[in-house]
Amino acid sequence: MRTQVGIVGAGPAGLMLSHLLARHGIDSVVLEARSREYVEARVRAGVLEQGTVDLLDEIGVGERMHSEGLVHEGIELRFDRASHRIPFPELTGGRSIMLYGQQEVVKDLIAARLAAGGDVRFDVSDVRLDKVDGDEPVVSFRHGGEDVELHCDFVAGCDGFHGVSRDAIPKSELTEYHREYPFGWLGILAAVAPSADEVTYTYTDRGFALMSLRSPQISRLYLQVDPDDDIANWPDRRIWDELHTRLAIDADWSLAEGPVLEKGITAMRSFVVEPLRYGRLFLTGDAAHIVPPTGAKGMNLAIADVAVLADAIAHSYSTGSSSGLDGYSTTALRRVWRAQHFSWWMTSMLHQFPDDDPYQRQLQLSQLRYTVASQAAAASLAENYVGLLKV
Ligand code: FAD
Ligand code: DHB
Repeated sequence: MRTQVGIVGAGPAGLMLSHLLARHGIDSVVLEARSREYVEARVRAGVLEQGTVDLLDEIGVGERMHSEGLVHEGIELRFDRASHRIPFPELTGGRSIMLYGQQEVVKDLIAARLAAGGDVRFDVSDVRLDKVDGDEPVVSFRHGGEDVELHCDFVAGCDGFHGVSRDAIPKSELTEYHREYPFGWLGILAAVAPSADEVTYTYTDRGFALMSLRSPQISRLYLQVDPDDDIANWPDRRIWDELHTRLAIDADWSLAEGPVLEKGITAMRSFVVEPLRYGRLFLTGDAAHIVPPTGAKGMNLAIADVAVLADAIAHSYSTGSSSGLDGYSTTALRRVWRAQHFSWWMTSMLHQFPDDDPYQRQLQLSQLRYTVASQAAAASLAENYVGLLKV
């Protein structure tokens, strides 16, 4: 079997890449280890930057997002038992964010790709990348009881942090950067109207909490917890009690409860490998870099990577020049490192670290007070949050 671009992974990165390539008339095959039902139900991110929204519109899959997603023109920072708003449009030249679940984006991308006759194969196993440093890389896999060899011009590793693509590059060719955090997020999806109008990031001495939403009827809430904690230790009653305590403010406000539809604990890390290219293999999204979710950047970065990569591949087919491909890693990494810093900064400002002393806590509070009091500091947060036009 042959295609121009073999894409490993049908997350936001792999699916968006196959759409962008198709727009240039370039063939691809997307290989996904999980079932379609599984990837469409996996609850994860919810904040789309303006640039991500614009790209979904450009490829013609924005319709449901605009009818069901919610445009938000700010976030709140909650500390000292009060809420403080950071308004986005006036600080960023009119930009804002969209709240729309990642699994909804994935559903829309899959439906549109299949409707256009795209080749997306779910439930593949034993995916292996060979000859990626030669002229014709091969992706072999098992599908429907058969062993298949897919010969490609290029391979895109879009298979997330635990995928196989990164391992196809000799360790000696890569530089890895890591940071582990001594906490994780317990996330719930609850069938209750959101208690806050906007995404609310909360600093308390009991740890971080986050209120978000998916629709006028569905709330998404997170609590900082121990990274090794077991979700079995968190019956719904304990989760709501802890949310009430951490989110409390002096104003007349209360948190509404509802049935918990889904819950889980995610560890947090920062991670980057460089470069993002080895021969004809290109790494994108979580396969190459991870950010802690406090800046809401992971999915947006994955989409930004493949926008650069699709243009580079198209340029190489149309001109025969490799200049775009040669520049992919450097160009994508500039945005990656900006998001790494922003995500680390938000995480450091808002969480309790076990080794922090009272001095450190005063520094965090001072940073929070400055961020909401100074137009310059608020604008810096806002422009990073909605997504920088220039990096
Ligand atoms: P993935 O979505 O991980 O997709 C990779 C795909 O490859 C998967 O479908 C996987 O099944 C498949 N795969 C893996 N191995 C193989 C293999 N060997 N062969 C074939 N297929 C394989 N980001 C934001 O932008 N905003 C947010 O608000 C946000 N909040 C988050 C909250 C939480 C709790 C979490 C966990 C993450 C959050 N993120 C957020 C991060 C975001 O979800 C990820 O960055 C995003 O999913 C990355 O997309 P991707 O396509 O690179 O990788
Ligand atoms: C959501 C997730 C995030 O990581 C974040 O920073 C804000 C909101 C969400 O799931 O809605």
